[in-house]
Amino acid sequence: MRLDQAKRDRYRRIAKREGYRSRASFKLIQMDKKYKLFKPKHIVVDFGSAPGGWLQYLSKAIGTEGFALGIDLKPVKPIAENVKTFVTDIKNSNIEDKIIEMLPKKADVVTSDLSQSLSGIWELDVARQIDLTSKVVELFPSILEKGGSSILKVFQGEGFDALLDRLKKDFKSMIIVKPPASRPQSSEVYLLCRGYADRL
Ligand SMILES: C[S@@+](CC[C@H](N)C(=O)[O-])C[C@H]1O[C@@H](n2cnc3c(N)ncnc32)[C@H](O)[C@@H]1O
Repeated sequence: MRLDQAKRDRYRRIAKREGYRSRASFKLIQMDKKYKLFKPKHIVVDFGSAPGGWLQYLSKAIGTEGFALGIDLKPVKPIAENVKTFVTDIKNSNIEDKIIEMLPKKADVVTSDLSQSLSGIWELDVARQIDLTSKVVELFPSILEKGGSSILKVFQGEGFDALLDRLKKDFKSMIIVKPPASRPQSSEVYLLCRGYADRL
């Protein structure tokens, strides 16, 4: 068995044992452990949230006084009192109003693990994934609190550098993170951005 496969199976086993719906949960858990992203009472918007692994972790991290809103093309089975979800395409034009309506206030953190089904055509898959992530970035002015943070999955390829430049302008700091649970040969990385609009 290849090392990569063994690692994936290991995370799948731990996810099952700990009651997480996806092994993707561990990417967020590892990033939070290292970079301390979430606090009790935080308001979080999570894009690309199905089947709900990140939301399960967020629900615990933000506590009963926090609130997480999950958005995906696919429905997410109920998680907890402090989590709400809705089914939509991030490209829908009314998404901004809908999110604002559902949030008690602007989010402290916006997370995105968005990725579409892969076509296998590398350039196309990168372009589509970066397009999805750019939609999230476009929503920041209306949904992310000044001084807030974001963690965004991005595929490294054409358009990656332009997105980085944009985020460096919008946030006080931005670092590229590759959590151990992310497959080494996958081109995905996470952009950890802190201090939204603190420069502006
Ligand atoms: C890797 S999965 C997310 C896994 C999730 N973080 C978890 O822990 O369970 C990526 C998700 O992005 C969603 N997605 C892809 N394109 C989308 C779009 N245009 N609008 C909303 N969600 C989308 C997919 O349906 C999929 O559920």
